Amino acid sequence: MDFEKKVIEIIKKRKSIRSFRDDPIPDEDYKKIEAYLQNEENLVGPRGKKGRFQIVPVNRDTTENGVKIGTYGFIKNPRAYIVGIMENDKEALVEFGYIFEKLILYLTYLNIGTCWLGGTFNRNSFKEEIDLQGNEFIPCITPIGYSTENKRMMDKTIRFFAGSDNRKPWKDMLFLSDFNTMLTKEKAKDFEAPLEMLRMAPSASNKQPWRVLVDENKERIHFYLEHTLTYGEKLGFEIQRIDMGIAMRHFDLTCKRLNINGRWKTKKPKVSVPNEQFEYIITWEKN
Ligand SMILES: Cc1cc2nc3c(=O)[nH]c(=O)nc-3n(C[C@H](O)[C@H](O)[C@H](O)COP(=O)(O)O)c2cc1C
Repeated sequence: MDFEKKVIEIIKKRKSIRSFRDDPIPDEDYKKIEAYLQNEENLVGPRGKKGRFQIVPVNRDTTENGVKIGTYGFIKNPRAYIVGIMENDKEALVEFGYIFEKLILYLTYLNIGTCWLGGTFNRNSFKEEIDLQGNEFIPCITPIGYSTENKRMMDKTIRFFAGSDNRKPWKDMLFLSDFNTMLTKEKAKDFEAPLEMLRMAPSASNKQPWRVLVDENKERIHFYLEHTLTYGEKLGFEIQRIDMGIAMRHFDLTCKRLNINGRWKTKKPKVSVPNEQFEYIITWEKN
């Protein structure tokens, strides 16, 4: 797929878009999105959990059924929302991040603007549009449409407060053998690009809670989540688990692009962690 070949440039290009032009998304593109969402492969995470998605067209923030969608002024004039639906448990949240980020990158490839939303939207308004089953809930949604060139002051303010244009340096998130040894780009060798693409991933409030430990012989890459204390408590679910899945997706799509083969496994290393906020999540092992 052309999209997967271009994944590095797409990751570099993507950023959150919160204001949209009036231009409709052409039917041709809707068909592509629908086809994407019907492909099983695009809907499953590394642990086999499945997400589902629904496109909800809006006009001035009102759906076709007359439901008013609230985003507290964060999003202006989208053409539609894509609503993510997943089971509500710890593992499923990681899987959701992994699954939804590929969709976000695919939309970016179609030149459609997106913005991960996990906090600043009224979940109840979407519940009226979606038939939730069993333990399902709506972790995140994205508006879709074409970016306005003149950014609103509001967009600039949000970006400024989240520090959206910055990412933590390598030394704060990437480690070699243990958490006292920083990983340099030179030592990362083949993994330099996949880890750099991981570092560019979006995260809730741009907290970048990913910590990655590369083992000495570069066969295994261990993924940890450093929880930000009290963050997201009011949401009622651990949103940073979603950030983790996003970073994993950037990493493995880039590996795939560069023909570095491997797979996700549970292989917790016997390494001590710097503080109690660190949680081991998963390992990527070279084939
Ligand atoms: C899981 C998740 C939830 C997010 N929730 C919101 C949100 O509720 N409102 C919002 O304006 N931005 C939200 N964002 C967007 C982040 O603020 C943004 O990705 C980050 O600041 C980096 O900026 P960038 O996406 O432009 O690179 C969310 C991002 C992620 C990954």
